[in-house]
Amino acid sequence: MIYFDNAATTMIKPLAVGRAVLRAMQTMASPGRGAHEPAMQAAKTVYNCRVEAAELFKVPEPEQIVFTMNATHGLNIAINNLAKEGTKVLVSGYEHNSVTRPLATAGADIHVASSPVFDGEEILYAFERELDWAELAVCTHVSNVFGFILPIYDIARLCHDKGVPLIVDASQSAGVLEVDYTRLGAEYIAMPGHKGLFGPQGTGILICAKAGEPLLCGGSGTDSIPQHMPKYLPDRLEAGTHNVCGIAGLLEGIRYVRSRGIGEIFKHENCLLKRMTEKLAELDGLELFTEECKEQSGVLSVRGKKISCEDFAAALAEEGICVRTGLHCAPYAHKSAGTLDTGTVRFSFSPFNTFEEVDGCCQFIKDLL
Ligand code: ALA
Repeated sequence: MIYFDNAATTMIKPLAVGRAVLRAMQTMASPGRGAHEPAMQAAKTVYNCRVEAAELFKVPEPEQIVFTMNATHGLNIAINNLAKEGTKVLVSGYEHNSVTRPLATAGADIHVASSPVFDGEEILYAFERELDWAELAVCTHVSNVFGFILPIYDIARLCHDKGVPLIVDASQSAGVLEVDYTRLGAEYIAMPGHKGLFGPQGTGILICAKAGEPLLCGGSGTDSIPQHMPKYLPDRLEAGTHNVCGIAGLLEGIRYVRSRGIGEIFKHENCLLKRMTEKLAELDGLELFTEECKEQSGVLSVRGKKISCEDFAAALAEEGICVRTGLHCAPYAHKSAGTLDTGTVRFSFSPFNTFEEVDGCCQFIKDLL
């Protein structure tokens, strides 16, 4: 099998991740719910994960790291806090449904700062033009469909200058690119644990500037008499028993990222992207979505000229090559790139992929076409 669906979930994890999940399941109980050894072990693991995440993302206090079940969960908390009926919200043309559906559900007035794919300058102009109108901005760091790296630090600076609060979706960048909370100055940054941070599915992180309103209410293990959630982070936003096994795995995933290094991970994925792009560009029957791999993470979308994306992906799957096809839950991104009618076939890499896998996949595509 060749696994090129890492933008959905990194399935190949560092070995320590699986070991930590099993160890947690066999030795840990609920954090903050007891003074016995299994509860204390759980509390220690959850706290250590907060500390390592805070260090990785340059967050001043570990308490600002809130554990969620995925990026969607975090984005819902963030959006519910900042967008109400009629709130004027500026978004990029590359947002995922996890941003646009909660905004639509809240009744926000959504406006797109549109730009062609891989045009960082144009997107910046669009934000500059439209921000005077906006009361909130929500922006992804990297498009999950095209790997387009948006100039998020410049967008954050514009938001700051114009006094517009910003929510960042770091789903595709956490673990691959520098996500610096202090530099971004965002109200919230949401990310999954199960992609570039190598945690198990069912884990996520929401970095919060302040506590805000919870999405869920329930037990917090602290201040049990008052019938409202504690006012302080992270307890206010973490009702119910934590996903301790998942967080134990996520801790090891974050440790892997920190020891291998973000720069090194990005470089490896970008080299794989370049190799695949060069090889596929030699073939006649394909349209590639790339700009010489600049401003692009390890994600490549393609379309066949004479084969539908569904047939293409089915042939790859039969050969044991795992990719994602269709609209990738991101109709805004496909609309921006003009691929809404067909979708694309998406190859997405991880630091565990090899050049041999890229070569094998390209050879198969050549034969297929
Ligand atoms: N958002 C994830 C993807 O792009 C699931 O596949």
